[in-house]
This record gives sequence, C-alpha cells and structure tokens, in this order.
Amino acid sequence: MNHSILIIGGGNMGGAIARALHSTPDFSVNVVEADEARRNAFSVHGIPNFTRLSDAPKADAYLLAIKPQQFANYTSEMKSALGDTTPLVISIMAGIPLAALHAISPRAVRVMPNLPAMIHESMSVLCAPAFDAASRSVAEKIFTTIGAVAWVEAEEQLHAVTAISGSGPAYVFAFMEALIAAATEQGLSPELARALVTQTLRGASLLADQSNESPATLRAQVTSKGGTTEAALLALTEGKFDSIIKAATLAAAKRSRDLSGS
Ligand SMILES: NC(=O)c1ccc[n+]([C@@H]2O[C@H](COP(=O)([O-])OP(=O)(O)OC[C@H]3O[C@@H](n4cnc5c(N)ncnc54)[C@H](OP(=O)(O)O)[C@@H]3O)[C@@H](O)[C@H]2O)c1
Repeated sequence: MNHSILIIGGGNMGGAIARALHSTPDFSVNVVEADEARRNAFSVHGIPNFTRLSDAPKADAYLLAIKPQQFANYTSEMKSALGDTTPLVISIMAGIPLAALHAISPRAVRVMPNLPAMIHESMSVLCAPAFDAASRSVAEKIFTTIGAVAWVEAEEQLHAVTAISGSGPAYVFAFMEALIAAATEQGLSPELARALVTQTLRGASLLADQSNESPATLRAQVTSKGGTTEAALLALTEGKFDSIIKAATLAAAKRSRDLSGS
C-alpha cells in the first residue's frame, strides 16, 4: 500500500527523511519548506515542495520536522489545515510532548531519530503509548527506511533517548575532532589524521555491533598490561572521562525536559 506523507520542515532531518522515503515505492512524499534554496534542492530530486501548508495536498501522515521553538506558532495553522480530520501526526521535534501533539490529532507519535539518517543509518526511537497496531506499523515503516528502529513505552524515557542517540552523533564528532587535532599536533597530515580517525571509529563501532562481547571486554582485548593503550586509558580516567560523558548526557536530558516544560 502506498502512504502519502507530508513533511513539514525540509531541513537536515526532514530533508534526509524525504529523500529516503522518496526513493522507495511505498510512499509518496511532499514537503513544506520555508527556505527557497532548500525547496529548489527538493525540486532537483523530483520531490514536490510547497512554501505553505495551505498550498500542499492532504496526506495520510504529517511529519513535523521544524525546530521545537517554531512549533508553538504553528499549531493553529496545522489545526485549521487539518480541520476535523485525524491523520497520523509524527513529530521528530525534541522535547515537544505528546499532549501538545494531541491538540493537532489524537493519532500522534513522537520519534527521536538522529543525523546518520542522511546515509540511512539513523537510530530512531518511537513512542506512542496506546497506539493502534496499524498506526504503529506505518510509523515503524517510515523510520525503517532511514535505519534502525526501537520503541519506548514511557514518554519520559525520550529525554534519555534524546541525550544518548538523538544528540549522540555530535559527541562522536567532537571526539573525532579532538582525536584529529591530537594526530596533527603529533605530526600527521590532516588528511591522514581524518582517515585514521574515521576508519578507527567505523571499525570499532562495527566490531562492537557484530561481536557477542561487551564493549568493556573488547576494550580489555586492546589493553595490554604496561602498554600504550593502558597509558592512554589512565590519562582518560585521570581526566574524568566517564564523569564528563555523564554530565554531557544529563545536560542534554535536562534541556529536553526544559523544552517540554516538564
Ligand atoms: N539535527 C538532528 O540531528 C536532529 C536529531 C533528532 C531530532 N531532530 C529534530 O528535528 C527537527 C529538525 O531539525 P533540523 O536539524 O532538521 O532543523 P533545520 O535544519 O533547521 O530544519 C528545519 C527546517 O524547517 C523550516 N521551517 C521552519 N518553520 C517552517 C514552517 N512554518 N513552514 C515550513 N518550513 C519551516 C526551516 O526553515 P528556516 O530555516 O527558514 O526557518 C528549516 O529549513 C528539530 O525539531 C529537532 O529537534 C534533529
């Protein structure tokens, strides 16, 4: 069955999802996007796009991919566009609670994807307590096109999800930047430094994904007594690496709670 999806906000995330869905025969995708340059990029991909919601065709599902801060000014426009209909409303906006989405449609699902959606390697976590099986299946199908999918039943858990996988790619990029800077300071060229760092993260991540061993066991396999890795890990411990990571994720979860007003 072909599902019609209207994506509202064709930025980094909305654009990645639109391109992925457009490349499968199961969905027909339209995008509402305020920015002209971004609209032109959709036209290049053959994806129909509109400046305003009132210009766009009706859809089975509406995917909200605008910034959380932009949402408050948008609810009345959506309500008047949807009228008495109750379509599937999917929100990827960080921190906007289901209660706020229910003001638009009772059939609402919150999803926290992440930026690797751009290469169909997202981790998307869905939450829609008391959702019927058919709606669950459509929502899951959408996000399977951009990567892996998991569900949480308690909406409160989305704050932690946001802090770990939603914002997580940025922590990994920050780690990469630090490793690349360290490599160039030790005399490696920027090109070689980038290649070493990206392939090391890719290889370690794939190994952790495919291995039955825990990350702690894999770490121990690289760490010989009195060796180079042990010296590095000791410096990380002295620099309170674990506490910094924990503080960063708690700050992200707190910001998610602040945005949701809880
Ligand atoms: N980026 C991530 O890694 C990530 C991960 C998980 C979840 N999210 C969530 O995904 C959402 C989008 O994030 P993003 O990084 O993709 O943001 P973004 O790149 O800024 O994209 C949002 C787009 O929506 C457009 N827009 C805003 N209001 C509009 C309206 N009323 N009608 C039509 N278009 C409108 C914006 O245009 P203007 O720039 O002209 O306003 C912009 O092009 C956010 O709610 C965020 O919480 C993001």
